[in-house]
Amino acid sequence: MFQETYMDGERPAPVLARFSARGPSSSYLGIAKPDIMAPGVLILAAFPPNIFSESIQNIKLSSDYELKSGTSMAAPHAAGIAAMLKGAHPEWSPSAIRSAMMTTANHLDSTQKPIREDDNMIATPLDMGAGHVDPNRALDPGLVYEATPQDYINLICSLNFTEEQFKTFARSSANYDNCSNPSADLNYPSFIALYPFSLEGNFTWLEQKFRRTLTNVGKGGATYKVKIETPKNSTVSVSPRTLVFKEKNDKQSYNLTIRYIGDSDQSRNFGSITWIEQNGNHTVRSPIVTSTIIEVWGSED
Ligand SMILES: *[C@@H]1O[C@H](CO)[C@@H](O)[C@H](O)[C@H]1NC(C)=O
Ligand SMILES: *[C@@H]1O[C@H](CO)[C@@H](O)[C@H](O)[C@H]1NC(C)=O
Ligand SMILES: *[C@@H]1O[C@H](CO)[C@@H](O)[C@H](O)[C@H]1NC(C)=O
Ligand SMILES: *[C@@H]1O[C@H](CO)[C@@H](O)[C@H](O)[C@H]1NC(C)=O
Ligand SMILES: *[C@@H]1O[C@H](CO)[C@@H](O)[C@H](O)[C@H]1NC(C)=O
Ligand SMILES: *[C@@H]1O[C@H](CO)[C@@H](O)[C@H](O)[C@H]1NC(C)=O
Repeated sequence: MFQETYMDGERPAPVLARFSARGPSSSYLGIAKPDIMAPGVLILAAFPPNIFSESIQNIKLSSDYELKSGTSMAAPHAAGIAAMLKGAHPEWSPSAIRSAMMTTANHLDSTQKPIREDDNMIATPLDMGAGHVDPNRALDPGLVYEATPQDYINLICSLNFTEEQFKTFARSSANYDNCSNPSADLNYPSFIALYPFSLEGNFTWLEQKFRRTLTNVGKGGATYKVKIETPKNSTVSVSPRTLVFKEKNDKQSYNLTIRYIGDSDQSRNFGSITWIEQNGNHTVRSPIVTSTIIEVWGSED
């Protein structure tokens, strides 16, 4: 079955596997999930030979290697790429590494069309995140969205937890008294704007504002211009539309406002924002999701 589906050599690649975990996150809707997709079908991997891996007509077989499929096969690819990036850029934080992997991921397949699921539906950012990870491009992302531990504390502060709950996440209560700057607007390489469900199907213009800061990890100064792919039934405005980085490690911020116009189908819609380097090769792409809040439909695999 896998051979027919995946190995005839003519289908576009990659394709999103049916079993791949879908977003949004059931634990927190305010950050779009998943982040990324990585190879997870028929992965050749070392296997404990003391566990029978196959049986043919009651004969149990074992092997040092196995072809395995699953989200648990994609996770080591993502972790390995993160480790490789840390090796190449020891100064990068975990958030910089995540940003590099997300903003350089491919959302198009080998035929330059949107990546599809194995049932032929187009894969959305709530299915595949930013796209299929590209380790070589992630080595040189141009710009990254950094987030410090304090930024995560500020996010947790915005969620009105008790001190007990807060300690579970923050591993310390020290910061609980320092929720002076609560913010749900984490400096994350993707955007999700949620709107209340309207039974009447009528809408006012609802607005959600984001602020993001980019750090230049390119070799020298660079200028980037924005390109916006607007989700259906919304408008997206970005200010400023040009970011000038004078030197390496320079930081520049922008505001992004999503206005929801309304959608009689109350569907989820998708877009993107890409910062494109002028006179250079870097493109820094983030997916945008707009959705009414209906229920948590994601699975956690
Ligand atoms: C947290 O509490 C504040 C004040 O009561 C409220 O305005 C805000 O909506 C709450 N946030 C969440 C995520 O429940
Ligand atoms: C509280 O957090 C701010 C950053 O939001 C930090 O500058 C300050 O040092 C912290 N204060 C304490 C007492 O931890
Ligand atoms: C939406 O419809 C309801 C009921 O028809 C009406 O009361 C309300 O004013 C409408 N809201 C807007 C923003 O048009
Ligand atoms: C971005 O928004 C902030 C308020 O959130 C505002 O003070 C600032 O002027 C805005 N910057 C731009 C370039 O629009
Ligand atoms: C939402 O988008 C669809 C398709 O673009 C359009 O037909 C419809 O009028 C839009 N709805 C609103 C309220 O603008
Ligand atoms: C863009 O990429 C090409 C091929 O990788 C390289 O030869 C060229 O120098 C790059 N240009 C810039 C401005 O970095």
